[in-house]
Amino acid sequence: MMRFYRSPDNLEIITSDEYVPPHPIPHSDDLNIIQIILGARSNLIGVWPEAYYRSTIDSFRILGRQIVFVNDPEHIRHVVVARHGNFERKSPQMRRALEALLGDGLFISDGETWKRRRPLVADIVHKRRLPEFGQTMEEAALAVAQEWAALPPGSEIELTEEMGRLTAAIISRAVFGKNIARDAAQQVIEGFSAYQRHADSFNLGYFLGADNGWPAFGGRRRRKAIAMVHDVVESVINAHLAGEGDAGSMVDLLIRRNEKAGGEPLDVTALRNEAATIFMAGHETTATTLTWAWYLLANASWAARSVRQEIDSVCGARAPALADLPQLRWCRAVIQETLRLYPPVPLLPRQALQADRIGPVDVEKSALVMIAPWLLHRSPDLWEKPNHFLPERFLSGARIDPFAYIPFAVGPRICPGMNFGLDEATLCLAILAQRFEVLPRDGYKAEPVCRLTLRPKGGLPARLVARQARNPL
Ligand code: HEM
Repeated sequence: MMRFYRSPDNLEIITSDEYVPPHPIPHSDDLNIIQIILGARSNLIGVWPEAYYRSTIDSFRILGRQIVFVNDPEHIRHVVVARHGNFERKSPQMRRALEALLGDGLFISDGETWKRRRPLVADIVHKRRLPEFGQTMEEAALAVAQEWAALPPGSEIELTEEMGRLTAAIISRAVFGKNIARDAAQQVIEGFSAYQRHADSFNLGYFLGADNGWPAFGGRRRRKAIAMVHDVVESVINAHLAGEGDAGSMVDLLIRRNEKAGGEPLDVTALRNEAATIFMAGHETTATTLTWAWYLLANASWAARSVRQEIDSVCGARAPALADLPQLRWCRAVIQETLRLYPPVPLLPRQALQADRIGPVDVEKSALVMIAPWLLHRSPDLWEKPNHFLPERFLSGARIDPFAYIPFAVGPRICPGMNFGLDEATLCLAILAQRFEVLPRDGYKAEPVCRLTLRPKGGLPARLVARQARNPL
């Protein structure tokens, strides 16, 4: 593999007042098809040439298949809003990679199923429900702070795991109920991560002409991972249906909201698919956001100082709470800038239902239409110093074009958990940053890699330095 394709080097620049965090140096030459395929399988964000970071729209082919690449706000609006009906379908790669686990869950459904389920799911994760879930967020972050405080001084932690544990605790209690047993939640988490290790987001069948791709091969380990998730989720659903669930959990809301909507009740499999989808969509996305935020703050001392000063002045010695978020503007800006630089979902692939036209490009039926937050967020045509870490850009009050900044996607399929995820990440950052500085292992350099989400390759080893919360008043 190495003979045909060499992954690009990463660039990272750290000075006392500027920080350009790690990103693959774009290829200067066009890659041939073999290189694109091998590159896409090793790291989807590393294969793009320089020109694709500009505001542009282009069309090319991989084997027999047309790929339409859309990287400017106006054409993105056309795809996801004006022609939503023709481009709402996820790519066969994504559908095939996730269908064994999520069935017809919202993330990969389309057409009538998506239309019917979207209002249900959007309602139960809506921002007006955040006060109910805020307490779970606070408790889970404080529990992690306590565990960290009990570690022997100088201990090393692995941040992607720690943040995964934290966001899984939050989303599992929110979805399944506060009384979900710890080992049941752990089984779901392990099942998901084992599944992800064996999921392949490249589907050769599609490029060879099968419009819906080939079913993904299901080995023994993948089947075991699926069973680990399904067993727990189904037993939680059955407990709720038998009246023994936690009132106020998302599963409970889903069942009640669906009954109120009338029509066909959702069966256990449909409820399982939606609950598993919310868990998956809300777990690793927030965990990787937090992981990257720690790495960015550790290398940008001025921003870390501003975050700490803000927390001290807003909260003094008490722990930050959901109600403090409107005043924790620096913490929020750090999360927003982290989502710009490292969007957890860096590619939004869609499939054209019918032939269509986007700007100057004729789109064939079943073509792959690729929108890439990774590239859009780093476009020199849209962002000043696009590769710099500058949380200040979200503090200035300047309007951010909603079609230029899309970590949660945009249009009718926008992430329904956007406010949940933003508040959760900001609150967890504030609670933990009040008590600890998180420092990557000496000499450690993060390398962003994308499989299903964008994460630091090999994890992020770090040590903790306890700090005393101060009340400046
Ligand atoms: C920082 C955290 C998060 C990020 C960056 C994020 C990002 C996204 C993105 C980009 C999509 C659209 C994917 C596509 O169109 O291909 C999406 C969809 C979705 N997200 Fe999130 N998400 C986050 C947190 C959450 C949370 C906390 C929840 C639930 C509580 C959630 C639930 C969902 C669901 C159910 C969908 C599917 C929506 C649909 O297809 O109609 N997400 N998310």
